[in-house]
Amino acid sequence: MTLSVNIDHIATLRQARRESFPDPVQAALLVELGGADGITVHLRQDRRHINDRDVRLLRETIKTELTVEMAARLDLVRFICRVKPDQVTLVPELVTEVTTTSGLDVVKGETQLRRVVTILNRSGIRVSMFVDPEPGQVIAAKRVGARVVELNTDRYTKEPRRRDFHLKRLVEAAQTARQEGLIVHLGHGLDYINIIPILEQRIADGFSIGFAIVARAVFVGLQQAVRDMKHILEVYS
Ligand code: PXP
Repeated sequence: MTLSVNIDHIATLRQARRESFPDPVQAALLVELGGADGITVHLRQDRRHINDRDVRLLRETIKTELTVEMAARLDLVRFICRVKPDQVTLVPELVTEVTTTSGLDVVKGETQLRRVVTILNRSGIRVSMFVDPEPGQVIAAKRVGARVVELNTDRYTKEPRRRDFHLKRLVEAAQTARQEGLIVHLGHGLDYINIIPILEQRIADGFSIGFAIVARAVFVGLQQAVRDMKHILEVYS
């Protein structure tokens, strides 16, 4: 089970002062020393945290897998095909949102998404799609050429009283993804506690986790925070 650590929030801290530090590229080194299997960054249209320089330097320096989350826009696709990360995760993006909350509507955007996925696949970049845990969306992701689906755990993490309901939806969507031959990732809002019931279901090939790890790092250091999460995943491997 893989852990890709999202380091956007290192860049958020840098941008809070428009400074050159803390540098997400340096953070990535510590994340890797902590045992992560990959580094994830979200290249937003407004470049509010991660910027083009970060993505280029991460590509040159990291030893694990680089995943770039981005909207399915042709200007971003052109840039990313030159950088060639290992994986692109397509996400919906609203300029007004604090963070990504809902999954992509692959069913509705099928034609445009197929065009983008085809270009990325031809460049040798694996495509993941961030979708809500709905079988219809998972099947559509497969139809447009994705190899990975990342199931959105946002509602599972935000509505603890309805956790069983949301967990069941995640399990069913993961089963559909498996039947379709897709790799199953999960992410958004996961922390050191709420991940446990998901791990008990043994539905995931990998996780994408950012905020909880960077927040813990303030107290224990980045390397240790990654090591702690990796240890939890290993218990269920
Ligand atoms: N997956 C996707 C698609 C995301 O957009 C994010 C947030 O950038 C994450 C995972 C990580 O979420 P969190 O920071 O809440 O762990």
